[in-house]
Amino acid sequence: MKISNLVATFLFVGVFASSGLAVESNQEVIYNNKCAECHGLTAEGNPVKKGPALNHKSIGDLQITILDLQGELSINGDSSGDHYKMEHNIKSFAKEGYIIKPLEMSKFLYYSFNPEAARH
Ligand code: HEC
Repeated sequence: MKISNLVATFLFVGVFASSGLAVESNQEVIYNNKCAECHGLTAEGNPVKKGPALNHKSIGDLQITILDLQGELSINGDSSGDHYKMEHNIKSFAKEGYIIKPLEMSKFLYYSFNPEAARH
């Protein structure tokens, strides 16, 4: 194979890989791959990573915080400390092709992990 072919192949693969193929929008997959590390496998929280528990929150509460973390709201106007870190994560997830949908993610968290959900 000629060098130029090899280069073209690499370019093609590179473009292909960054063309949206890697997009993930299944909220459960995203949670397990990206969020569980800090918030726990069952959203029970992870003190080591300082991720708070999310398994006691209502869908509405979760949705508002996730929107806020995505920068859609500005309830928490500060850009310092832990909140800033989280916001940064969500932005870098988006760049990696993980599409977080606030309402869907909140429902997933609530119905999978909140003991309250079992009563409805
Ligand atoms: C690197 C660790 C880390 C990762 C990864 C992470 N979080 Fe967080 N998260 C935190 C920390 C620390 C806080 C608390 C401080 C803050 O508000 O940012 C937090 C706060 C939150 C809150 C608000 C909780 C509250 O009590 O107000 C929600 C909701 C949340 N994260 C959802 C997610 C989701 C969804 C993902 C995956 C897409 C995720 N987090 C990934 C560390 C993380």
